[in-house]
Amino acid sequence: MSHTSRAIRIDRPGGPEELKIVDIEVGEPGPGQIRIRHHAVGLNFIDTYQRSGLYSLPMPLQLGMEAAGVVEAVGEGVTHLKVGDRAAYASQPPGAYCELRVMPATCVCKLPDAISFETGAAMMLKGLTTQYLLKKTLPAEGLQPGDFVLFHAAAGGVGLIACQWAKALGLRLIGTAGSDAKCQLALEHGAAHAINYSTEDFAARVKEITGGAGVKVVYDSVGKDTFEGSLACLRPFGLLASFGNGSGPVPPFSTAVLAKGSFYLTRPTLFTHIATRESTQAMADDLFAVVSSGAVRIPVAQRYPLADVQQAHRDLEARKTTGCTVLTLD
Ligand SMILES: NC(=O)c1ccc[n+]([C@@H]2O[C@H](COP(=O)([O-])OP(=O)(O)OC[C@H]3O[C@@H](n4cnc5c(N)ncnc54)[C@H](OP(=O)(O)O)[C@@H]3O)[C@@H](O)[C@H]2O)c1
Repeated sequence: MSHTSRAIRIDRPGGPEELKIVDIEVGEPGPGQIRIRHHAVGLNFIDTYQRSGLYSLPMPLQLGMEAAGVVEAVGEGVTHLKVGDRAAYASQPPGAYCELRVMPATCVCKLPDAISFETGAAMMLKGLTTQYLLKKTLPAEGLQPGDFVLFHAAAGGVGLIACQWAKALGLRLIGTAGSDAKCQLALEHGAAHAINYSTEDFAARVKEITGGAGVKVVYDSVGKDTFEGSLACLRPFGLLASFGNGSGPVPPFSTAVLAKGSFYLTRPTLFTHIATRESTQAMADDLFAVVSSGAVRIPVAQRYPLADVQQAHRDLEARKTTGCTVLTLD
């Protein structure tokens, strides 16, 4: 039997105007798959890379990597989910911008009753990313309470989750953001210090804050505009985790840039970390625990109806959003 769903699709890479609302037919799940009816869908910066063609994918493409809803049908071999379960996911392949979809079950997790669909849709991709950054993307000597870390775009979706989670771990997170109001928001969410990198030399300020020592780790999702400055913030043997391209991809560079302090560099992705059912569930359990305890609150600051997805992309790329953004399906 087939069902109809509204979905957002692009036929070719380009600007937000390429995002088109279409009706799709959704069938039955095959082995290892589920069919899920979404209650809310998460918006992520990676969606803009896939839309623009920075990350090249086959066309036509149904966008979206994050959502929450109810499992409606379960394919052969799926044992961790059953019909009627509340569930949420961050997942490849893209396709979450819709009401109903069939998808691989591996990355889909049962959502605890205490966590709303909206929170689930807003937090899976961004929260699991924060989990692997703060818990698994560490300098050789690890991170101890009291350590300084630098986190760029600290008032964004990943950023405001990271501010809170870092504080819960006892870390002193220095956040950067593009306006004084965003800096204030980062501080309110647990950042120990905030730097407006639109008006201040963030590397100089980090040196000042850390008494000249620098930080053990920089978590850099801004890319092109911050790469050089981020290296200048590291203490010897420090780690640069370059995990995004908010301002554009990091241009080619010589490994000699790491010689200043025997630095380490990694370019991690969530999808390596959630490649198996076991790793996905272990990371999700950690995220569910920190959210259920109240130590991390998922800050949904914008909501757009699915049909207004073009505007949602424009606002995200124009740096007009803070925290998390959700597409609603009413
Ligand atoms: N590798 C991974 O596993 C992984 C997973 C999830 C997310 N990410 C990356 O993490 C970053 C945050 O994702 P998110 O979805 O939570 O987005 P977001 O942080 O809510 O939005 C991106 C932010 O980047 C900052 N930015 C700096 N320069 C920019 C520019 N030239 N144009 C646009 N924005 C700029 C803006 O904050 P300011 O105005 O404060 O500068 C903007 O709000 C993205 O780069 C994303 O690709 C990576």
